[in-house]
Amino acid sequence: MNRPKRKKNEGPEVIQLPQKRYYRQRAHSNPHSDHTFDYPYHPDDMVWADLYPNIGDNKVEFLDIGCGYGGFLIELGKIYPDKFSLGMEIRVKVSDYVMDKIKALRGNNPGTYENVACIRTNAMKYLPNYFHKAQLSKMFFLYPDPHFKKAKHKWRIINPSLLTEYSYFLKSGGMIYTITDVEDLHEWMVKHLSQHPNFQRIPLEELMDDPLVEKLYETSEEGIKVTRNKGSNPYHPDDMVWADLYPNIGDNKVEFLDIGCGYGGFLIELGKIYPDKFSLGMEIRVKVSDYVMDKIKALRGNNAGAYENVACIRTNAMKYLPNYFHKAQLSKMFFLYPDPHFKKAKHKWRIINPSLLTEYSYFLKSGGMIYTITDVEDLHEWMVKHLSQHPNFQRIPLEELTDDPLVEKLYETSEEGIKVTRNKGSKFAAIFRRL
Ligand SMILES: C[S@@+](CC[C@H](N)C(=O)[O-])C[C@H]1O[C@@H](n2cnc3c(N)ncnc32)[C@H](O)[C@@H]1O
Repeated sequence: MNRPKRKKNEGPEVIQLPQKRYYRQRAHSNPHSDHTFDYPYHPDDMVWADLYPNIGDNKVEFLDIGCGYGGFLIELGKIYPDKFSLGMEIRVKVSDYVMDKIKALRGNNPGTYENVACIRTNAMKYLPNYFHKAQLSKMFFLYPDPHFKKAKHKWRIINPSLLTEYSYFLKSGGMIYTITDVEDLHEWMVKHLSQHPNFQRIPLEELMDDPLVEKLYETSEEGIKVTRNKGSNPYHPDDMVWADLYPNIGDNKVEFLDIGCGYGGFLIELGKIYPDKFSLGMEIRVKVSDYVMDKIKALRGNNAGAYENVACIRTNAMKYLPNYFHKAQLSKMFFLYPDPHFKKAKHKWRIINPSLLTEYSYFLKSGGMIYTITDVEDLHEWMVKHLSQHPNFQRIPLEELTDDPLVEKLYETSEEGIKVTRNKGSKFAAIFRRL
């Protein structure tokens, strides 16, 4: 047997825990594609002792579906040492990581961690191969893949037909725990679970004694990531303290959003044209967003009471809009001279793309507008194509917008627009309405 080398006179051998960087894999997996899985033909064929050396006649009762890197699963095993907990994870490398980690923990702490294990499988398909009716007492769905696009909602791991399946494997009185940082997905899960005849929501207040509730927030790697990002992004739109940015916002809401606002020339102009609306710039570069906020602060200092309706935050607008805005909150979104990402392989990074358009349309009110302008003709065509093809948007000819004071501002007020003029470049604008 190959044993790790151990120098003489050293203390007890410590098995290295696996390192996640060697197990990284794409964040999401397509649960409908043809993976090859080893799975038992029938639950009775499953040799559970291969996973849990001391399981004897006991049964797995806790199931963490899509357990990721296993942080919550391992915690679960500690909190309930007498129960057997299983993680199911579809990504090969990630499930390997979890099993390697559990093996290392078992090796370093003999007799412990023997009640947790992870298998690689597609939980949307193979639960009937593993479990008997009413075998489970708790199921966990922590930060499941959001599958934002409507066409992909069927891939969501909580859906009406799977709920019927889950209720078959759960004992009466058993529990489903869900958590997500995506509000829309949260509403989806609550809706489908609430509507299902076999489930009833338990208010969190009634679960003060349940040690698992608080663990949902912090123990899984995804939960930790969401919290870590909280430094700059709120966990939920209701957590955002808008008054820190706009001293007089009161009960008003941000309605205008300049995505990738750069040095803020257009944003500041927007605030002047619409003094009663609150406009936000989002910019991913730290120094650039700092510049914009410092500029706004200086303008406020020199013009008491003015410029209080504009602000800029540093964030990745491709990722974090759901952390800031409620459904149908925005009335205008601006994409001025977005980064072109010329190479075909990088087109997916373009800030206008089909799945993000669905997200933008979620945050826009009906009748809300998207303004685009670029000096890159190919990008213009790309944006027009995707916006025109999207069911929630309709192009408005520029001739119909002669009364809109913002149209001419697209060309000249932003730093990028001024640069393009200086370089005698062409400019292509296109404006769309949210249906
Ligand atoms: C070419 S500049 C245009 C800036 C500005 N709109 C203008 O017209 O002057 C594109 C800007 O988008 C920002 N950006 C790119 N991706 C972003 C993202 N995912 N979230 C927020 N800002 C982003 C870049 O840092 C850059 O400042």
